[in-house]
Amino acid sequence: MSRRLHPSVAGAQAFQVAERDPEARLFETEDGRLLLEAILSRYPTKRAALLPLLGYAQRLHGWISARDMEEIAAALELTPAYVWSVASFYTMYNKRPAGRYLIQVCTNISCHLNGAREVLEAFLEQTGSREGETTADGRFTVLEAECLGACGFATAVQINDEYFESVTSAKVEEILAALDNRERG
Ligand code: FES
Repeated sequence: MSRRLHPSVAGAQAFQVAERDPEARLFETEDGRLLLEAILSRYPTKRAALLPLLGYAQRLHGWISARDMEEIAAALELTPAYVWSVASFYTMYNKRPAGRYLIQVCTNISCHLNGAREVLEAFLEQTGSREGETTADGRFTVLEAECLGACGFATAVQINDEYFESVTSAKVEEILAALDNRERG
C-alpha cells in the first residue's frame, strides 16, 4: 500500500480543513474581500471565478450551503440557481456537511475487481457509519466514489485530499489508526 497526495488533485480539491468557521460570511471580512478581488483579477469575466469561489466556501465551512451560494451569486452577478447547477455538477463540492475525514472509496471497475466493496464495508464498519452519513462525533463521512484516476493501484481511496492506493480491507484498520495518531500529534 502506498500513500501520497495525488498530483492530479493536489491543490484542486477543496476539502475540509481542521479549523472551520461555520458562521463566517464569505466576503464580509477583510481577508474574504481581498481574496474575492484577487480571484476576480485573474479572470476576464466574473462568471469565470465561480469554481475558485466555491472552493473557497468549502475551505471555510467544510461544505457549501445555500447561503454560500447566494453570497457567491451576488458577488459574481449570477443567479443562485446557476451557482447551484454548477456546484451540483461537481462531486468534489460538498453540498451538505461532511465529517472531518471525508473517506471516498472508489468502486469503479478496476477497484471493484480488486475488492473495493470489502474495503468500503470495512470503512463503514470500523468508523461505525452508514454510507453518506456523518458519524455522531463529526469525524467521518464514508462515500462510494466513481473512478479516482488511480486504476492501476486499485483499490483507491481518497481521504480529504490524500490518496491511499492498493488498499485492501485488511489495511483499513491501519489507515484509521494512522489518522488517530496524526490527530494526537
Ligand atoms: S477504477 Fe478505481 S481508481 Fe479508477
